[in-house]
Amino acid sequence: MKEKIESLKSVVSAFEAKTADELEAIRIKYLSKKGIISELFNEFRTVPNEQKREIGQMLNQLRDTAQARLAELKASIEAQKAESEKPDLTRSAEPVALGARHPLSIVRNEIIDIFSRIGFSIAEGPEIEDDWHVFGALNFPPEHPARDMQDTFFIEKNPDILLRTHTSSVQTRTMERVKPPIRILAPGRVYRNEAISYRAHCMFHQVEGLYIDENVSFADLKQALLYFAKEVFGGDTKIRLRPSYFPFTEPSAEMDISCNICGGKGCPFCKQTGWVEIGGCGMVDPNVLDACGIDHERYSGYAFGFGVERITNLKYQVKDLRMFTENDIRFLQQFQ
Ligand code: DAH
Repeated sequence: MKEKIESLKSVVSAFEAKTADELEAIRIKYLSKKGIISELFNEFRTVPNEQKREIGQMLNQLRDTAQARLAELKASIEAQKAESEKPDLTRSAEPVALGARHPLSIVRNEIIDIFSRIGFSIAEGPEIEDDWHVFGALNFPPEHPARDMQDTFFIEKNPDILLRTHTSSVQTRTMERVKPPIRILAPGRVYRNEAISYRAHCMFHQVEGLYIDENVSFADLKQALLYFAKEVFGGDTKIRLRPSYFPFTEPSAEMDISCNICGGKGCPFCKQTGWVEIGGCGMVDPNVLDACGIDHERYSGYAFGFGVERITNLKYQVKDLRMFTENDIRFLQQFQ
């Protein structure tokens, strides 16, 4: 028995295992209930009494050494495993899918950029407005059809409060607050009570421009609009101003650009005319200057308003206006 224990001692302290499975196999072979060491404990019963003390000690020692060696191996296997599972910091990163700008934001930012290069700064106003800033100060007569329930979303309990139908309200707000010279661009959302279809929406976007100073003329307006059209649609673009009517400008004009889809030859988009309308413009009506506390004898100015969806459609040919608000990622991903 003694020899057995002696010879096992060197075996036990030389245990080797590379994996958890190998380690478990060793544990079962030596230390499980039927294992070699446990069997020795069974045999121990037959040891004569006078030897029990010595052999008992040897056996306990053998078992302790075996257990200690197994614990040692277990620790080293676990350490190795942890090492191999460490993230590889030299691996290249997973590509992160970046979002894209909304086409309307791309175009709005481009318009802002173009006008900021000729000295316009951004102005803002509330989307929930009052009658005065949207209509009254802009020289709309009380019976003007634009105030009609057909076009304007009114707050039911107070018809003086409404959703602005155009960004021209920011003209009013700015002129009331700021002394000329004024040179502002006001991009923003507007609302009209329209049935939603592929070509109309109850919420859309405009960019309003306003320039007020001494001696501002219609020629200044025309030049600014031509510069703008060429910057957005390319150097060959032409503009055309058609006489029109807006309560807040006199004279007023509708602004067309040569159709950039067919280059002016005529196509379905421009209804074969070669021209497409992108907004309205004109010289600020003296009544509007008066209403906002600006001396119309001393100052004059021009104003314009473009539809952002309209310009975006000319650039990207989006066939259905509803796509701008549906947030379909397949649509939005196409714009960078
Ligand atoms: N506010 C007009 C609209 O929504 C557009 C417009 C026309 C704006 C002429 C202007 C302007 O500043 O001078 O239809």
